[in-house]
Amino acid sequence: MVQIAKGVFDILPHDPDQEGQWKQTYLWHYVENTIRSLTSLYGFSEIRTPIFEKTELFTRSIGETTDIVTKEMYTFEDKGKRLLTLRPEGTACVMRAFIEKNLQQLGSVHKLYYIAPMFRYERQQAGRYRQHHQFGVEAIGNSSYFQDAECILLLFALFKTLGIENLKLHLNTLGNAQDRAAYSKALYDYLKPHEKDLSEDSQYRLGKNTLRILDSKDLKDRTLLNKAPSIMDFVTREEQEHFEGVCSTLKTFKIPLVINPFLVRGIDYYNKTVFEITSESLGAQNALGGGGRYDGLLHSLGGADLPSFGFGAGLERIIQVLLAQGKTVPEKPMLDLYLIPVGDKAKQHCFALMQQLREEGFSIDMEMQDRKLQKSLKSAASKAIRFVGILGEEELNQNIIMLKEMAKNTQDQVPFANLSRRLKRA
Ligand code: HAM
Repeated sequence: MVQIAKGVFDILPHDPDQEGQWKQTYLWHYVENTIRSLTSLYGFSEIRTPIFEKTELFTRSIGETTDIVTKEMYTFEDKGKRLLTLRPEGTACVMRAFIEKNLQQLGSVHKLYYIAPMFRYERQQAGRYRQHHQFGVEAIGNSSYFQDAECILLLFALFKTLGIENLKLHLNTLGNAQDRAAYSKALYDYLKPHEKDLSEDSQYRLGKNTLRILDSKDLKDRTLLNKAPSIMDFVTREEQEHFEGVCSTLKTFKIPLVINPFLVRGIDYYNKTVFEITSESLGAQNALGGGGRYDGLLHSLGGADLPSFGFGAGLERIIQVLLAQGKTVPEKPMLDLYLIPVGDKAKQHCFALMQQLREEGFSIDMEMQDRKLQKSLKSAASKAIRFVGILGEEELNQNIIMLKEMAKNTQDQVPFANLSRRLKRA
């Protein structure tokens, strides 16, 4: 038997394993539907881009020394010898489409969202998958701090609607591109004399992607970092005001925020505001979502010089937190009626009846194989079905159907003409 590839999973109508509960379709539909209604309240429209792009798009935008680009990309050569990559994230793809389609001509601010699978070759562990799904937004063209706040509030609105609690918002500013570069140099100058004491990963990053050392979890690195220069001393007044604007707006809406000067994120395109939302209900991989401002990215990829803000949030983790916090999710939709015919004539009739009732908007299924009545009834009883209708020769002659109401365990004979009325939900 060929088994599923490592690090990926199926989403099924029912997952028989207790630890697979988060992989059930109805939960995904529930979260996705909530996302779709909220994004429309906030004025975002959906964008869908292909799951693969030219590799160069990602190396240029995510950054050549990042973990994603150096270790995690699914890159392959197609039959035409083109180098392609399964998208590891959505922002670069949206920028590419925006530039290619010249979307800036359609207005000054563009608010786009996506729900899409992403691919990263990561070490397999709880909460970390080689194909994960992100809800992402990209707001292009607005430099106001209200834009930053609006996106973060949208993500919190999602969590609130889903009933997810006890979240922490970590917020930082990286200043503008010059501030970021100046700080990176200062951090390098501070760490260089201690190079030998740094962890292996941090030694590799020193000079290549020095800022990433800031979110190292290594204890020795952390001790050194405690005395490191702070980004706050390098951020210009204008950027500080922008950041204060974001913080005070979020506070007005009672968002619990923590300013974390060590937060840099794993992708190079960010500047100014960066954020991450974590939940203690998750294990080591506790980031439910994150993002920030990336004002120079569109321009660096050959587009207009437009400021932008966005985030990505992992659906797997959102659903896992939902279940871990014991939230009730609306019931799986039930089948209104399951028809069991007895005999060929009844089968013909049931099939026609099924199609007619479906046209009227009822969810119907029927027994099509010639299984014994008891067997069909038993399998119907194990499913989420409101009514079971049994139709034999006798019923057919009298234009009635035997209707069993499963929740009440009652049954009565219903004339065909009254069937739709009985099936209507209260
Ligand atoms: P990211 O932080 O790399 O950002 O990913 C966003 C979220 O996706 C994470 O917070 C996490 O919930 C989820 N995630 C990432 N990798 C995995 C994985 N291997 N398994 C499960 N979940 C995962 C970005 O991708 C940026 N494009 C976000 C953004 C949009 N920034 C601006 N606009």
